[in-house]
This record gives sequence, C-alpha cells and structure tokens, in this order.
Amino acid sequence: MEVLPYLNKNKQRFVDELFEMLRLPSVSADPKFANDVVATAEYVKKRIEEAGAENVALIPTEGFPVVYGEKIIDPKLPTVLVYGHYDVQPADPYELWETPPFEPVIKNDSIYARGSCDDKGQMYMHVKAFEIMMRTNSLPCNIKFMIEGEEEVGSSHLNDFLKKYKDKLQADVVVVSDSSMIANDCPSLTIGLRGLSYMEVEVTGANRDLHSGTYGGAVANPINILAKMIASMKDDNNRITIPGFYDEVENYTEEERAEIAKRPFNLETYKKELAISDIEGEAGYSTIERATIRPTLDCNGIWGGYTGAGAKTVLPSKASAKISMRLVPNQSSEKISNLFAAHFKSIAPASVTVKVNSHHGGEPVVTPTDSIAYHAASKAMEKTFGKKAIPTFEGGSIPVIASFKNILGIQSLLMGFGLDTDALHSPNEHYGLFNFYKGIETIPYFYQYFTELSRDAQI
Ligand code: BES
Ligand code: ZN
Repeated sequence: MEVLPYLNKNKQRFVDELFEMLRLPSVSADPKFANDVVATAEYVKKRIEEAGAENVALIPTEGFPVVYGEKIIDPKLPTVLVYGHYDVQPADPYELWETPPFEPVIKNDSIYARGSCDDKGQMYMHVKAFEIMMRTNSLPCNIKFMIEGEEEVGSSHLNDFLKKYKDKLQADVVVVSDSSMIANDCPSLTIGLRGLSYMEVEVTGANRDLHSGTYGGAVANPINILAKMIASMKDDNNRITIPGFYDEVENYTEEERAEIAKRPFNLETYKKELAISDIEGEAGYSTIERATIRPTLDCNGIWGGYTGAGAKTVLPSKASAKISMRLVPNQSSEKISNLFAAHFKSIAPASVTVKVNSHHGGEPVVTPTDSIAYHAASKAMEKTFGKKAIPTFEGGSIPVIASFKNILGIQSLLMGFGLDTDALHSPNEHYGLFNFYKGIETIPYFYQYFTELSRDAQI
C-alpha cells in the first residue's frame, strides 16, 4: 500500500479543506450558532461523498443531524464504523485567544482554531485516509461513517439514534480519534475514558437582594453558603465526601498500578507547562492516576451577586454553580447524580433553599487490549511512528462509547493523535501538523492490518 506519495502530494489541500471547516463556528452548546452547526454537517457530508462514500446523508435526530456515509465493498469482509464529531466547545473567553478562534492559522507548525484538534482535525484525518484508500485502490474492508454534532453537549440524542439504526450501523469495531497520545515520539492507544455527571445548583436566601449593611451578618448570604457547601464536598485528603460516592469505584491492583506508573511522565514539565508551582489531588495516588482512573468533583462555574465594575454593597438573593464529577468504572452516572443531589440538599442550612438539576452525563468505559482492532492499531502505529504504542487510560469522556457497546454490541478502538497540551476546550486550541499528517498516514495501515488479522482469525 502506498500511502505517503498520495499524502505528500495532497498535504496542502488537506489542510486547506480542514481550514474551511474550522471557519464554521459549530458550537453545539449555543443556539446562536445552530445554523453554523448544520452548515458544518453539510460540509462533512460533501467531503465524505467526494472521497467516495455512498448513501451519504444527514440523518436527522431530535438535535443536530448525524452525517452518515458508507463504502461496502464486500459484505463478507470486516466493517469499520468511524465515529467522530463535527461540533465544538464554545470559544469563550474570546479575549484570551491570540488569533480569532474561527480564523484558523498555522503557527509553530500547529493549526490554531477551536476544533482544530477536538474533533474536526482528528475526525477529518479519517475522511482523508478514506480518500487515500479510495484513490489508491487500497480500501481493504467495508467502512461506515457516523459523524455527530452533539458530542460536546453530551450526545443526548444518540442512544435513540443507535437504537433506530442498529442494523444500518452494524460493524466489527468502532474507530474513534477523539483522544490524546502521550507525545509525538511516544505513541499510545487509549484503553479507558472516564464518565461524567454534570450538575447545576442554585442556593436562594432572602426573597430579594438586600443592603449588605442593613442585613449583612443577620441573614444568610447564599454565595458564602454555596462556597462552603462546595468546599465541604472534599476532605483534607481531597476525598469526595458524598456518602456512597466511592462504593462502586473499581480499585486497580498493584500490578495494574505499576503498569500505569510506567507511562512516561515528568512532573516538572507538567507544572511548568501549566505555570503552577505545585499540584494537588487525592492522597495516595499519582498525578496520572488522579487524572485518569480516579473520580473527581470540580466546580466549573460559579456566579451570583454583583460582578460589574466598582463595588456594590449587596447581599445577593441567589448563588449558582455548575459542578462536574468525572466517573470511573463501575460508577453509574445516574446513581452518582442522585447521590449528589441528595447530599447537596442534606447539607444546606435551614437559612437557604436549594435547587439541584442534572445536565448530561456519560458512562465510563474500558476498551479491550486483546482485540483484533487493538493489535491492528498497535501494529499500524509501530509502522508509522517506529515505536510501540503504550496503552493509556485518559480522563476525558466520550458518552457514546459506552452506548456503542451496550446498544450495538460493538467495542471501540480509541486511536487519538492529539496531545494533552493542545488546549482542548481552552483558548488557543491547536493541533500539530505532524499529528494531523501522522494520523492520516497511520489510519490506512490500521485498515490493512485489521482486515489481515481478521482473516487470520477466521482460519
Ligand atoms: N475529545 C473529548 C474527550 C477527551 C478529551 C478524551 C481528552 C480524551 C482526552 C470530547 O470531545 C469531550 O470533551 N467530551 C466532553 C464530554 C461531555 C461534554 C459529556 C468532556 O469530556 O468534557
Ligand atoms: Zn472531542
């Protein structure tokens, strides 16, 4: 198979096309961008079609459409289902971007734009790898694309989608590039992702904002109380204090933890890159463990009272916060959300009332390392990086991965080419040109080895 000649000849065009997609602000969280989200779906559809897929369509859901396309060369051959997402996180705060988030540029050999890595850049590698296989007559098996537009808001309509199109989506494996690898000279394959419970809380004191001189000290201040309630949900060892929170948490064996500890990691580089002088986290666990195989509780946003210019002496009536919990096997998102709600209500003093709402969630996943797909991906990475891939757990979430297994009965292979330092969800998100091209180069080998190893397994 000749991947590099075609790739090298078309490198510039591939980046130009990605730029075109990055200019579309497909922010799924904000209704103001709804038209751009749909325009992005149209764009992906056009490119998948051009690359040679058939039955390409935007399949409606209750939310944004799923882009579907397929190339079935022989039903007897294995089938790979490619999953990715064309929606992106909000770009706020805009003022912290060095160049505008939806005007992609190349700086220091990286593409800077919202979605450059997560996930437009990574998803597009699959479209271009498919184009290469089609144009060089080397697609060895069947392929189906399923590219969604609601991943960043929890993929809440995808379970219905998977149930409705269960037959259409049948495949031997789902392949996803929406995660990271350790470093450009240290390839890795993701074997676990955390789940998520996302809550919003509101604490109310008096029936209106009050003069903080007249009433301050005598009436509850919801901001003070909310801050205290949030702080109390972790103890001095940074253990989460919600009763029952750890009941289902899978504890890794010493051997498994020793395996995790082998992953290259430099604490000094880590701190330097984040400009922090110290780290913090749950006592008894390493930084890698804290960020991947241990559950968390974090306040993502908090508001209330006066935040305008100057000073206003006010005792606010309300305070609110958004709180996320990252979950690990075998925690259940619904169960943890319920435990949180009950606990939060139970610790509220009688001087306030509280409301607790649950946003989207997702279940944690662990993917197999003894599968044909894992072996094929490992072999493909070794071929193009010249190094063996290290299996890694990662801390982010992709809610649909658990559903692929539970609803379609298909395991996923998580082959990400991004880096943790690519500033996903942050200002100045970027994706290395090296990573974009290396992904495009590696993916066709995955197909080749996956088809060969599947054939060998049948004999
Ligand atoms: N690509 C990320 C998930 C990810 C990030 C996996 C880093 C591994 C390493 C994905 O697009 C994402 O951000 N998902 C959300 C899901 C949530 C909104 C339900 C997340 O993890 O916050
Ligand atoms: Zn993503």
